Amino acid sequence: MDSRGYYNGFGGAFIPEILVSTFEELSKAFQEVKNDPGFWQEYKEIMSSYSCRPTPLTFAGNLTRHFGGARIYIKREDLNHTGAHKANNVMGQGLLVQRMGKKRVIAETGAGQHGVATATMAARFGFECTIYMGEVDVARQRPNVFWMERLGAKVVAVKDGTRILKDAINEAFRDWVTNMDTTHYVLGTACGPHPFPEMVTYFQSIIGKEARKQILSLEGKLPARVYACVGGGSNAMGIFSGFMDDPVELVGVEAGGKGLDSGRHASRLCSKDASIGVAQGYKTYFLQDSDGQMKETHSIAAGLDYVGVSPILSHLKETGRVRFEAATDKEVVEALSLTIRKEGLIPALESSHAFARAYQEAPCLSQQDIIIINQSGRGDKDIFTIADAFSDPGWKEFIIQKAEEYNA
Ligand SMILES: Cc1ncc(COP(=O)(O)O)c(C=O)c1O
Repeated sequence: MDSRGYYNGFGGAFIPEILVSTFEELSKAFQEVKNDPGFWQEYKEIMSSYSCRPTPLTFAGNLTRHFGGARIYIKREDLNHTGAHKANNVMGQGLLVQRMGKKRVIAETGAGQHGVATATMAARFGFECTIYMGEVDVARQRPNVFWMERLGAKVVAVKDGTRILKDAINEAFRDWVTNMDTTHYVLGTACGPHPFPEMVTYFQSIIGKEARKQILSLEGKLPARVYACVGGGSNAMGIFSGFMDDPVELVGVEAGGKGLDSGRHASRLCSKDASIGVAQGYKTYFLQDSDGQMKETHSIAAGLDYVGVSPILSHLKETGRVRFEAATDKEVVEALSLTIRKEGLIPALESSHAFARAYQEAPCLSQQDIIIINQSGRGDKDIFTIADAFSDPGWKEFIIQKAEEYNA
């Protein structure tokens, strides 16, 4: 990365004049804590006492036997407090906000996991909190909205545009421009203007640091491949960064939706539908038309349907260091079902993209090979979508009964 936050031409900070000093203040504060071993120590302490770190690296013996190929390990980010890797980033930014002396935080959220994590952090640190969420996501991730509100956050349903994550980000930036003196924007993924991609990756890198140490201690050698799903790119960057300088193949799995030829997906790095552009304050691959208008995206996973992607991952695509694949909604539901049955684990729909691709490739590897799949979050939040995908009659009856009780 160069001093202006570019990764071989991707990234940068395309921000309105009015926000320049806020970004300078943030960059300065982040550089200070990055070089302060005391801050990292404080961060590690809060993550272990509040969020169950280090998270385990679980050997998936039943799945390994089922596929008969590589030994499969699962990095358990689902065991973080609030159920996903998002906690790693928000607690880090929370400590930073404390140092900067600000009293209010805002955030965007898609699946709601980042919103719940931010609202939790705000409750813990005593900050005022507003969460922006597309109206479509509010409807499909209602349980997370419920918890954000209980945690004391104000949840604003964004009605602009396609009413999903990118629209929530736009609205959060609008708020920040008006309230920058008192407010910090806790961006939830490794995207956005510099220094967010670097900063979010820095906080998420705890995943890769732990996973590398754990696999060496358990197996005495490095994995052949590491798999992670890619929304904005934070859990992928988190685990990949631990293995970046090793002879380990890194595989990022995007939302293939209804298929890459259907036009109904959210694949920016392995479909022909994305191109390089500047939006939302940074330069990367976007799903956009020839006029630069953002396309509609689709994924069964609310956290993977973002139009842009981390500029660091765009750079790693160009250098070939990371291989990008896509998993379709159907493959994702099958992989989720198999993981539940074979290992008793319930990965989030987002994480299940990484599982789906790993399951396709595991049988082709030898029994001496190891693979690690990053389980970025737990699937409880997806119960409505998953029950629909499985056409569960008992669940449907329960919902109808509940609706009747409310209408009575
Ligand atoms: C469980 C889970 N995994 C993955 C993601 C995708 O985000 P990222 O690519 O930043 O890890 C989300 C986003 O909401 C999520 O909730």
